[in-house]
Amino acid sequence: MADAAIDRESTARRFAERFGRAAGVIARAPGRVNLIGEHTDYNEGLVLPIATEQSTWVACVARPDLSVRVASEALDELHTWRVDDWRRETSPHWTSYVAGVAALLRARGARLGGFEMLVRSDVPVGGGLSSSAALEVASAKALILLSGEALDTREVADLCRQAEHQFAGVPCGIMDQSISLLAQADTALLLDCRTRVHAYIPLQLGELAVVVVDSGVRHELAAGEYARRLAQCRAATEYFRKLDPRVSALRDVSPATVRAHASQMDPTLLARALHVTMENQRTAEAADAFARGDFTAAGRLMADSHRSLRDDYEVSCRELDALVRIASTTPGVIGARMTGGGFGGCIVALVRRDAIEPLAERVAREYGERARLVRTRPGRGASIEHG
Ligand code: GLA
Repeated sequence: MADAAIDRESTARRFAERFGRAAGVIARAPGRVNLIGEHTDYNEGLVLPIATEQSTWVACVARPDLSVRVASEALDELHTWRVDDWRRETSPHWTSYVAGVAALLRARGARLGGFEMLVRSDVPVGGGLSSSAALEVASAKALILLSGEALDTREVADLCRQAEHQFAGVPCGIMDQSISLLAQADTALLLDCRTRVHAYIPLQLGELAVVVVDSGVRHELAAGEYARRLAQCRAATEYFRKLDPRVSALRDVSPATVRAHASQMDPTLLARALHVTMENQRTAEAADAFARGDFTAAGRLMADSHRSLRDDYEVSCRELDALVRIASTTPGVIGARMTGGGFGGCIVALVRRDAIEPLAERVAREYGERARLVRTRPGRGASIEHG
């Protein structure tokens, strides 16, 4: 559960204490837990994430000059730069999300000058719950209002993703920003990352809970390997496009077609393509299963997804595999898999409420104290809380 919940009043108060004047705008945006549909978003496929109940909050006010002052409550840091001159080399990584959003808004012609901003969050940072998208989206919501611009949800998602690409150097897909913006409480979002058409799948979890276990590790190679997977998917797409010019992403290829080329294709590209094409199928099936309340079927698909990410896509790691093994052999756990980009971060499990404690105990005993259990519920999407 989130600790003492962050809310509008306490955020307004903290801002005033920090900057000596009232916040003009307060916005919040949640993190995400992907139930299934991993490494499919940049292949124009399907994803099925939920938003976390935990959110990142930003409070801000415009300044009459071009100076930006951003404070992080958790890090007790204050960073200053000119809105038209942010330097990656001299700034800590987390400021790149705010700076990127501000710079890209200005590049669109938004009338955005300097501002003061306070950032607070109860989304676990660096744990694979997309605290970065939460910060981008919360900042974007607030700065858009401050500058009087009008952007629709899709444009905001694209702007935030572009900030992540250009300012943080992560070539991510569109899942994290989309769920942070679009989520509705107690539903999962089935998103078609090509058309952006989406549907809300009600999650009547009843006796079940979504439990996230943070492995407490984040391997250095994550960013490099992510970019390498992207390149491999492009190469596999190219292979199939030569056979059929209508193919423009792995989304357009079926698992049967991939299998039919098993003996001709480079084995690595084959394995990557198998994962992506099957994962798209699994995601559609899981959305149906969740909608029907058939959690056994959904849990099985989650387990298949994990195996495929481990063996074919090769983005899991020893720690995530250990946690999934512990979870899936604990009675009352219906399904478990790694969630997010991989190489550390979190697993997600569907767990009967009476099995949460036994799971926590086994994790502490067999995996170690480094792991952290995070209970969450499918939360609501980003909102303006004041302004
Ligand atoms: C990261 C990226 C997402 C997505 C996942 C893998 O979280 O930010 O866009 O590609 O990895 O599914």
